[in-house]
Amino acid sequence: GEGVYTANCASCHQANGQGLPGAFPPLAGHVPDLALAEGGRDYLVQLLLYGLQGEVGVEGQAYNGVMPAWPQLSDEQIAGVLNYTLSAWDNLERMPEDYPAFTPDDVAAQRDAGLSPADVYERRQALELP
Ligand code: HEM
Repeated sequence: GEGVYTANCASCHQANGQGLPGAFPPLAGHVPDLALAEGGRDYLVQLLLYGLQGEVGVEGQAYNGVMPAWPQLSDEQIAGVLNYTLSAWDNLERMPEDYPAFTPDDVAAQRDAGLSPADVYERRQALELP
């Protein structure tokens, strides 16, 4: 997962997961909120497979950019990078010990959903985030 992150995600979200305020949201301190929300596991897989467009608020800061989709990554790579973002930085401290890891099957199950980045945004809006 770490290699996938370094190669594909760190250019925007930064190696330390802090993002760039106003441009790219932080993943450190934030991905656990998404993962623990009801529906958040499916949302994270959909976000990686289909991208995201629409204004989101993260830690009091608005972001209105485009998160690219990553359909070219394998099921293993997408599961791995999601697991990495939940274990890196201080995120692991926020996760319950029994939280199940993302599996390649979790990703395969969403491959044919055919969502648009705007559809993913609707799913995001439905999450109850702290
Ligand atoms: C949002 C992960 C690559 C730009 C996000 C979010 C996550 C994430 C978890 C938060 C979504 C939310 O709060 O609901 C990743 C991972 C990547 C990756 C794991 C690598 C596979 C990138 C790259 C860019 C980027 C390379 C820049 C070209 C953005 C933007 C948003 C975002 C702009 C906010 C979208 C919006 O304003 O609607 N990403 N990201 N991401 N990401 Fe990424």
